Amino acid sequence: MDPSFIPYRRAAKYLKARLANDDRESPEIGIICGSGLSGLSHSMTEHMSIKYGDIPGFPAQCSVPGHKGELVFGNLSGDIPTVCLRGRFHSYEGHDMGTVALPVRVMRCLGVKFLIVTNAAGGLDATYNVGDVVSIMDHFALPMLAGKNPLIGPNDDELGPRFPPSSNTYDQKNQAVFLEAAVNLGFENFVRKDGLYCFVSGPMYESKAECNFFSSINGSAVGMSTVPEIITAHHCGMKVMCLSLITNKVIRKGDEGPAASHEEVLEAVEKRAEQMQDLVKEIVNILRKNGTLSRMKELPPVDLDTKESGLFGINVSPLRTSMNAPIRYKVASAAIVAVVAVLVSRLKQ
Ligand code: HPA
Repeated sequence: MDPSFIPYRRAAKYLKARLANDDRESPEIGIICGSGLSGLSHSMTEHMSIKYGDIPGFPAQCSVPGHKGELVFGNLSGDIPTVCLRGRFHSYEGHDMGTVALPVRVMRCLGVKFLIVTNAAGGLDATYNVGDVVSIMDHFALPMLAGKNPLIGPNDDELGPRFPPSSNTYDQKNQAVFLEAAVNLGFENFVRKDGLYCFVSGPMYESKAECNFFSSINGSAVGMSTVPEIITAHHCGMKVMCLSLITNKVIRKGDEGPAASHEEVLEAVEKRAEQMQDLVKEIVNILRKNGTLSRMKELPPVDLDTKESGLFGINVSPLRTSMNAPIRYKVASAAIVAVVAVLVSRLKQ
């Protein structure tokens, strides 16, 4: 097995054992909580949290204020087994794209078939207000077109095809569910449909010229997350749904207004967090009631056996998957230097 396929299998195997220990079903729905939106996990019943640091191969924590670092398993809408990612990994933190995609592949290995992704984003569409919630129906991802892409590398054929399409990532039927949920909750005055999310690597907010560029292609919202996860989920057969909360208006050439800041983003999220969570819960209610979830075919099970060829017959996979690649390389380099130093000192004797 290609070593790069192993971290998510190993993490999923560990989590499966934890779920079985606790007599829990595998999750059907996965939710990725954007900055400040982790509160949703509290509304799950019978929840159980597992810290990222306890999961083999997961970076111990997220470095971004407003992001927690744990997976929460529980039930939504009564009895729908769900897993919530409280805190995602961003490429601007220095994570490689494999790590950004890791939680989604773990969810896939656990059996998740429907992924709801939330994020905070800057508003490009001049008609949007801060606090609007946008249903994303397309994306434009310059970094991913230019090589910062979780699908680059050996393809795991058990998860999905080498050359997946992207044009069918988002589904009108799911947007209809979003709109129905908004009507049920009386949220029509702040929801928007047919959003185009422009993905940037960050961490700086965009320049005026960059915002002008995204507006020129009719971008609706701009943000530093989500598309790598969405692309990964679509590649491995999950249905996806994406909601962006507009936390600030971007500044274009000639615009007045304060420059974007993380404080402003968190403040806007706090004001809308509860309603955003209600929206996601209502979406899950509708998916359950209208039979979407029960009609969806189970995805084929993924073989979680992580056997691989070792180094001189020694199985090194625990080392490979318990450390990040940069740390692994530093540890390996230090070990080589130590071995050479011992050899040289022996030769001198
Ligand atoms: N740009 C990029 N990411 C963001 C923004 C923004 O203006 N607001 C919240 N996340």
